Amino acid sequence: MNPADPISHDLQRAVKLLTAGCVVAFPTETVYGLGADATNPQAVRRIFAAKGRPGTNPLIVHVADADVAKRYAKDWPEAAVALASKFWPSPLTLVVFKTDAIVPEVSAGRATVGLRSPAHPIALELLRAFGGPIAAPSANRSNRISPTTAEHVRAELGSSVDLILDGGPCQVGIESTVLDLTSATPAILRPGAVTREQIEAVIGRVDLAAGQPDASQGAKSPGQHAIHYAPSTPAYRFEAGQTARVLDWLASHPTDPTGLVVLQTWDDFSGLRSTSWPIHFERMDPDPAEYARDLYATLHRLDTGGLRTLFIEMPPDEPRWAAVRDRLFRATRAI
Ligand code: TXA
Ligand code: MG
Repeated sequence: MNPADPISHDLQRAVKLLTAGCVVAFPTETVYGLGADATNPQAVRRIFAAKGRPGTNPLIVHVADADVAKRYAKDWPEAAVALASKFWPSPLTLVVFKTDAIVPEVSAGRATVGLRSPAHPIALELLRAFGGPIAAPSANRSNRISPTTAEHVRAELGSSVDLILDGGPCQVGIESTVLDLTSATPAILRPGAVTREQIEAVIGRVDLAAGQPDASQGAKSPGQHAIHYAPSTPAYRFEAGQTARVLDWLASHPTDPTGLVVLQTWDDFSGLRSTSWPIHFERMDPDPAEYARDLYATLHRLDTGGLRTLFIEMPPDEPRWAAVRDRLFRATRAI
């Protein structure tokens, strides 16, 4: 092995580095995180520097279990007790009021902190061995695709991370559900694999926070969200059955004919296939969990392979697709 290679399986070294205030990338079931001691302001600042992330965007703090979470929460409401006991470890982040031990750098000056116990054996082993809370956003440069393999992290962050713990490909593939428990009615700030319906079955009604790109909002204000999943690659979405729009778009835009890709799930796209456009069709799984697991890895692979323009056939506007649609809305503009 190359001694300069940051990819490693050495958990004890990861713990030593975290204790020394260094940043360590580690696998979770959702995406790889870029971790640092959440009680050490210098260490946390290193995360923001490595990601190029604005200091105004708070970080999620990972904990081994609910007992550790309670130590860092000023208030651990009944809803948190119920949700943590039902779902943790899992892709569910609970936003609660924080204690002073979680440094202001983590929470971007807010009184709250997002806490989550991740369902990945290496993440849990790391958290138990380290003993404290680990602040970790996704281990990508700000505004880029989240990493779902150690290799993605190395390609993106390389020398700015001291060690990348390799835990294989992430099984969930998109980031956790973020649930705010500090508002009068709990609110989903970011949909994820733990669904609104699953949460409501435990604690009753929850809101979907304003700004979430659900279908009605998307229709009202297309393009209000980030329009590139990566700054260099324009990505356009269209609802299933609106294939003709891709043709119209190609006909009316001066476009580099190389690197045209359609993420295809339901339509057979016979209309597009019969044109002279050299379009590559990338087939996505029609099951929401499989689709989510493969999404970022597919985008990373296409990017490396010279992707120039991406057209995405949107999954149906159904609750089970809420998290995937959210990520696709953020990554694209309406065609
Ligand atoms: O699955 C995940 O959550 C991954 C893995 C590594 O655990 N982490 C992740 O972190 O996606 P990040 O920093 O990329 O996204 C954190 C999200 C952001 O949308 C942030 O605004 C929100 O959680 N967030 C974190 N703390 C918050 C707080 N105190 N109040 C409101 N939103 C918060
Ligand atoms: Mg992120």
